[in-house]
Amino acid sequence: MKSRSLKLVISVVVLSLILGLSGGLVAQAQDEEYTVGTSADWPPFELVDENGNIVGFDADVMRAIGLIEGYEVKIRDMSFDALIPALKSGKVDIVAAGLTITDERDKVIDYTNPYWDANQGVLVRKDSPLNVVTALSMGHKVGAQRGTTQAGWLEDNLVKKDVNINLNLYDTNDLAIMDLKNGRIDAFMADTPAARTFNTLNPELKMVGIVMTGEHLGFAVQENDPKGLLPKLNDGLEELRVTGIYDNLKEAYFGPSSDLDRITKCFSKSRHYLEEEEDPAAYAMDLRTCMAGEDE
Ligand code: ARG
Repeated sequence: MKSRSLKLVISVVVLSLILGLSGGLVAQAQDEEYTVGTSADWPPFELVDENGNIVGFDADVMRAIGLIEGYEVKIRDMSFDALIPALKSGKVDIVAAGLTITDERDKVIDYTNPYWDANQGVLVRKDSPLNVVTALSMGHKVGAQRGTTQAGWLEDNLVKKDVNINLNLYDTNDLAIMDLKNGRIDAFMADTPAARTFNTLNPELKMVGIVMTGEHLGFAVQENDPKGLLPKLNDGLEELRVTGIYDNLKEAYFGPSSDLDRITKCFSKSRHYLEEEEDPAAYAMDLRTCMAGEDE
């Protein structure tokens, strides 16, 4: 008798748990929306196209994972050094900004599995006589974005060790590139993929060397992942890999022809696959073909 009523209690509890959970899940699936913070000045990971859209590898990976995992994605642009504070205070739910996984940041935010490797590239003007050593010494003006690992590397390894450089920190990389081109600074440091793309977009620059920092990039969520986003992001990344979407986005953005005109044209041509058909595989394939110029 005792055990029958216990069973009854247990099944009622289990049943209400199931009902409650599934009710919750359905409600969530309808109105789940997450804000992704980025600093859209880091091509080809994130940049603003000629129509003002935030495009790039990170942005599209976020949109594709949103479709796969069933939530809406809103992308918000801000200066790089505002991203981690915005994540900590819950103004954004995810940071997708070519963010290096560092021990220091790992204490205050949580990361997905790494999705990219990077070192630090040094850019100067094409007509400059500087090499990677002279560019980073002899009183030269070196630019980097505030709050980044390149700013940290320059501070820790050069400024604090009394190597004579004049460090110029920028809120956005667009300003740094402009200053480099017009001679206000002598050199600029950026993650190798970004340095290469900055160079493609600005042929009046050249890369004179790479500092091997061995960084890994990850997407970030709030410390202890209160919204349960890490499994979604990691599953989503895995899904992008097995379906080939990841490779197509990579080819599209890291291929040889990443000029801004083409990115603008191709994003506006392919975006309906994301927004109307909600088919990230068709989007990535179409974008890759368009970026390669194979549809011309
Ligand atoms: N990987 C470097 C860091 O995490 C630089 C990232 C800059 N990203 C950007 N979207 N501007 O510090």
